[in-house]
Amino acid sequence: MRVLSGIQPTGRFHWGNYFGAIRQYIELQDEAEDAFYFIANLHALTTVRDPERLRQLTTDAAIDLLALGLDPDRATLFVQSDVPEVSELCWLLLTGTSMGLLERSHAYKDKKAKGLTAGAGLFAYPVLQAADILAYDSDTVPVGEDQVQHIEVCRDLAAGFNHHFGETFVMPKAKVLDTSAKVPGTDGEKMSKSYGNTLDVFEEPKVLKKQIMRIVTDSRPVEEPKDPQSDHLFQLYSLFADDAARKELAERYCSGGFGYGEVKKKLAELSEGFFAEPRARRAELESEPQRVREILGDGAAVARKKAAEVLLRAQNACGVRP
Ligand code: ADP
Ligand code: TRP
Repeated sequence: MRVLSGIQPTGRFHWGNYFGAIRQYIELQDEAEDAFYFIANLHALTTVRDPERLRQLTTDAAIDLLALGLDPDRATLFVQSDVPEVSELCWLLLTGTSMGLLERSHAYKDKKAKGLTAGAGLFAYPVLQAADILAYDSDTVPVGEDQVQHIEVCRDLAAGFNHHFGETFVMPKAKVLDTSAKVPGTDGEKMSKSYGNTLDVFEEPKVLKKQIMRIVTDSRPVEEPKDPQSDHLFQLYSLFADDAARKELAERYCSGGFGYGEVKKKLAELSEGFFAEPRARRAELESEPQRVREILGDGAAVARKKAAEVLLRAQNACGVRP
């Protein structure tokens, strides 16, 4: 089984990204025979238009993933643009892609619906994603629910190409991550960069503590019993607490007689402890840029070798090779 997934470097990782996606990707490195993970900087270029920022976010994403447990001995980590074969494959796929298929894509449709003009890069976004997947003969693609449509587009394109030119691509499957517990943000809505309600994994502990103390809560008096399950502060606390601590807090919610401030302080402490090791590893990696470059260079070499083989197969199939 070859597992592959990509992460766009469009901002720093927040708790929602970690618990909803990254932690689960990383766990897969032990299950798969082969695990490929890449930083999707070409996709990010459709939104991040500042070159310095894109470079920095790309490096940060790589360091963050390594610090959070992605192990280069067990998984291949690389930057999307370091494998130019993917962009070539993207063109081969584009020539067989119908406009209608892309017009039905969420990212493009949503942007149009908001009255914004979408660029051709956003329009063709799912085709580049299909090339990312097909270039490595990937069979399993772990993604959040929001990406399932893109995997369907990929399967459509692969099937169309195989049907027209003969068996060329491995048919991939989405492995939908468990996002049953959507991580709430500081305002109680889904945590998301676009809502400005994030708590970032590698934020300075002092800053993070302030942000936690500002989490919106209701104004019920201290003595009143509260329902833990419907409370976003309780949900955030549950991400870090062990079963016993969670149960204890749930009981206190039900009996009343505590203030939200107390829970926030505890949440700040627990989350700081939870990410303390990754934070230390991150500091270490940041002081060794050469090592990070080497890891990404080695990853790109492995990825390119595989992508070149698949590209050649596709070129032969469609007749752009003598
Ligand atoms: P954002 O909404 O902040 O822009 P992305 O869309 O870049 O986040 O999300 C990257 C991954 O993280 C996706 O696979 C998504 O499912 C997951 N994710 C993002 N926010 C949350 C959340 N609040 N709870 C659970 N998973 C999340
Ligand atoms: N579009 C994905 C996202 O926004 C990132 C991505 C790019 C990806 N290429 C991919 C994910 C290939 C899985 C496979 O989350």
